[in-house]
Amino acid sequence: MVVQVSCTLVVLLLLVSLLSSLFHCEHSLAFSLKNCTILYSENSNNVSVTCAEHHLTAIPDDIPGNAVSLNLSSNDISNISRMDLGGLSKLEALYVKNNWILQIDDGTFVDLVELKVLDLGENLLTALTKNMFQGLSKLETISLNNNVISFTSPVVFQPLVILHLVDLSNNYLHQISDIDYIVKLPTLQHLIITHNNFTSFQSDDLHVNTSNLLTLSLDSVKKFRITRDIFPHLQSLDLRGWSKDIEWEVSNKTFLRSLTRLHMSETSLSFEVYRAILQTAYSLQEFQMDNIKKWIDDGLIDVACQIPSLRTVDVRNSEIHNITEHMLQSCSNLTELNLSFNNINSMADNALQSMTQLRSLILQNNELSELPVAVQRLTTLEVYDLSINDISELYCPYFWNLTSLTILDLSHNQISYVSECVFQNVNNLKILNLENNKIMSFIDTFKDKLQTLEFLNLRNIDIMNFIQGDFHSLSSLQYLYIDLDECDSVDEGGFEGLDNLQILYLLGDNYFYDHFSGLSNLNTLILNVVESRTHNSSEQRDRPFSNLPKLKKLHIKVHRGYYDISKDVLSGLTSLEYLITEAYFMGSFKQTQVVNAHQYTCAFPVSQRGNKFLDFGFDSCRINAALLCFLFSSNLVMLTLLASFIYHFLRSHVTYAYYLFLAFLYDNKRRKKGIPHSYDAFVSYNVHDKAWVYGELLPELEGQQGWKLCLHHRDFEPGIDDYHYEKQHCWLITLMKPNLKPMNDFSFAIPKKNLHQLNSTNLCQGQGQRSTFLKNI
Ligand SMILES: *[C@@H]1O[C@H](CO)[C@@H](O)[C@H](O)[C@H]1NC(C)=O
Ligand SMILES: *[C@@H]1O[C@H](CO)[C@@H](O)[C@H](O)[C@H]1NC(C)=O
Ligand SMILES: *[C@@H]1O[C@H](CO)[C@@H](O)[C@H](O)[C@H]1NC(C)=O
Ligand SMILES: *[C@@H]1O[C@H](CO)[C@@H](O)[C@H](O)[C@H]1NC(C)=O
Ligand SMILES: *[C@@H]1O[C@H](CO)[C@@H](O)[C@H](O)[C@H]1NC(C)=O
Ligand SMILES: *[C@@H]1O[C@H](CO)[C@@H](O)[C@H](O)[C@H]1NC(C)=O
Ligand SMILES: *[C@@H]1O[C@H](CO)[C@@H](O)[C@H](O)[C@H]1NC(C)=O
Ligand SMILES: *[C@@H]1O[C@H](CO)[C@@H](O)[C@H](O)[C@H]1NC(C)=O
Ligand SMILES: *[C@@H]1O[C@H](CO)[C@@H](O)[C@H](O)[C@H]1NC(C)=O
Ligand SMILES: *[C@@H]1O[C@H](CO)[C@@H](O)[C@H](O)[C@H]1NC(C)=O
Ligand SMILES: *[C@@H]1O[C@H](CO)[C@@H](O)[C@H](O)[C@H]1NC(C)=O
Ligand SMILES: *[C@@H]1O[C@H](CO)[C@@H](O)[C@H](O)[C@H]1NC(C)=O
Repeated sequence: MVVQVSCTLVVLLLLVSLLSSLFHCEHSLAFSLKNCTILYSENSNNVSVTCAEHHLTAIPDDIPGNAVSLNLSSNDISNISRMDLGGLSKLEALYVKNNWILQIDDGTFVDLVELKVLDLGENLLTALTKNMFQGLSKLETISLNNNVISFTSPVVFQPLVILHLVDLSNNYLHQISDIDYIVKLPTLQHLIITHNNFTSFQSDDLHVNTSNLLTLSLDSVKKFRITRDIFPHLQSLDLRGWSKDIEWEVSNKTFLRSLTRLHMSETSLSFEVYRAILQTAYSLQEFQMDNIKKWIDDGLIDVACQIPSLRTVDVRNSEIHNITEHMLQSCSNLTELNLSFNNINSMADNALQSMTQLRSLILQNNELSELPVAVQRLTTLEVYDLSINDISELYCPYFWNLTSLTILDLSHNQISYVSECVFQNVNNLKILNLENNKIMSFIDTFKDKLQTLEFLNLRNIDIMNFIQGDFHSLSSLQYLYIDLDECDSVDEGGFEGLDNLQILYLLGDNYFYDHFSGLSNLNTLILNVVESRTHNSSEQRDRPFSNLPKLKKLHIKVHRGYYDISKDVLSGLTSLEYLITEAYFMGSFKQTQVVNAHQYTCAFPVSQRGNKFLDFGFDSCRINAALLCFLFSSNLVMLTLLASFIYHFLRSHVTYAYYLFLAFLYDNKRRKKGIPHSYDAFVSYNVHDKAWVYGELLPELEGQQGWKLCLHHRDFEPGIDDYHYEKQHCWLITLMKPNLKPMNDFSFAIPKKNLHQLNSTNLCQGQGQRSTFLKNI
């Protein structure tokens, strides 16, 4: 038993080491997939393969078996069969979106034991059949949206024992009762069934007592009727796209007691239906509305804000234009307000007066041309997003009372003027985004301010010049994004003070030694060179990064032109781990002069002898190392398997062969030690038996059987001792009476009457096993 286990272990170990060596082989060699690409990942266990957008009609057969993610989206695949995904046992995510799949065979996914995400959206599936998803025991998310599914087998999801999310939106399902087995799945948390052909959603149609659903997305039903406590855990209801007036009935308010999030959108619902819906959602914390311009003016936000638990209101795409004094007056308990994409161009000065708890205000994507005065008293505000508006100046003391502010986004505006005192008192700001503006200069804007700032984005702001000391007080800054068109936009020492800067993104020209001085903690430098220029060489300029001892990642991309780079360009980068360059070294290295290369001729291989070296086709030099690896390792595996098989089933035969082999060795050794045997056997006999020996034994053994016997009367040479002859035979046949003990292992006594049984075969086989041999005769 122990032997067996250890044998199995040895085999396993061997296999593992073989596989790992195979993997290693693969790793170190160039390889290519027919129609797919392995995406680069810093984590080498994360093998992500994409075959998307290749007009494939079938799943390629060379997907590596260690793939973790496979993207087959946007091809022309029409069916998937059992063999197509065989062996992909590491796969965790499979995307087959946007194909022409009509047919998926039973058991197609049985090998995908690790699969967590399966996307089959945008295909032509009409039905989900019984055994379609067999084996997917680790699947968490399945997307079947935008198919033409009208039938689903009630057991299709049974093998999916930890399924969390099902997306069946945009299909042809029409009976809610057809999907009650989904609603019933104990692990299911999220169900999306928008854009189907359901006419009603009624708890009486569902043969379910209690569902564990947390979120439900549903639309276009004429009737929504909950008369049982069927969704005690439901937290989020997405009712976007309800285009008809519906009958809404929730017979007991407590049925939706867990509902905290409601999402609705533009509909032709009457104000009364909205009100009814909001009244049954008495625990609501988050209310999201898209495209409901019509009801905003009638005070819908006000109605929602009367739910005492409401904290977040999100009104998007509703063309509000003008935030009036009363629109938000009952929203005093709100902590988050998102008014993005609303074309807001004015806001009453006291529009936010009631909001004493507001922490986040998103005004992204509107038409505000000035900083809205209503905001400047919100002392609790932490996140303020004014990005994508038309704001042209930042003045003080606008932000002075916003003492809690940590995130300020002013990107994509028209800001050209920034007053010197604007960030005074803004003592908690961590993230400041000024990307895409028209700021020409900062005059002491950051000086002695923003000591807590960690992230600063100054990309594309038209700045002309940064002078020494501009960033002096930003001692907490970790991320800086900055675009500079001219190489002298940053004075030498311009980045001084940024002692904690870790990531610097720079767009501009080559940067010189001194600009990086003071960035002693910089970890990542991303340099985007739009157009390089020729610079005069100097010792420092030849080593532009030598002030960056902690730099781990350097990414340089040159968009136009190329650098004439010195050979010392990377010197000083003692911590570098990643170097990514695009078109940076174009002007320097691939130019290596091989003196007289044209004159060299080949001496080998013989067929090429005398030809010019430069004309030599190097293809023949390439050894197919992968094949060698494969042959070697597969042979080893076979051998190991064979060995363990033999050991297990043919052990006794092997033992026998082993002893035979030992005997052979022993014999060989003896042969080598002495003079090679000249005789098969020495016959020791009494002189009285001489007549019998010569008359019967000799004719029988030498005549009939072809032995060569040594007889002292006949073969001894005078003067040579007996010992010499003893060494020259393999057997000593002593003719004597039975029952006397033989002299040694290689002699035996044999009665005369049994001599005819001696033959060369049993004699030789008997060697070393005298007793067996004697027993035979
Ligand atoms: C795996 O690699 C893919 C592609 O490179 C990437 O998108 C994904 O985030 C990576 N996942 C992990 C866990 O590293
Ligand atoms: C798969 O490929 C498609 C098409 O190129 C792409 O749009 C999609 O984002 C990819 N999916 C994933 C998860 O990478
Ligand atoms: C893969 O690519 C090869 C060559 O480009 C093509 O001949 C073959 O049809 C492709 N395979 C599939 C499954 O489409
Ligand atoms: C599956 O698709 C392949 C490629 O288009 C086709 O050759 C094969 O006949 C199809 N099989 C079935 C069962 O439809
Ligand atoms: C959807 O339902 C309507 C009315 O019940 C019916 O006329 C229509 O054919 C259905 N559509 C589909 C695709 O089943
Ligand atoms: C619902 O609960 C009742 C009573 O507890 C039970 O008899 C019935 O089988 C349950 N129905 C389902 C579908 O679980
Ligand atoms: C609503 O349900 C709760 C708890 O299930 C129950 O106590 C209450 O009586 C019900 N109210 C009505 C009006 O049925
Ligand atoms: C604000 O919240 C408090 C405490 O939760 C509550 O008493 C009050 O009614 C709420 N105000 C509004 C207008 O909902
Ligand atoms: C905003 O609305 C208020 C109230 O309807 C109105 O008095 C004011 O003129 C409007 N402001 C703008 C800029 O349209
Ligand atoms: C606010 O709404 C916009 C646009 O709909 C969205 O992109 C953004 O994520 C929302 N912001 C927050 C903080 O919810
Ligand atoms: C800041 O708050 C103080 C005290 O409430 C107030 O006097 C001042 O006007 C406020 N400043 C601004 C710009 O709102
Ligand atoms: C390079 O140096 C020479 C001589 O020092 C000077 O004339 C020339 O203008 C310099 N060129 C550049 C691009 O700085």
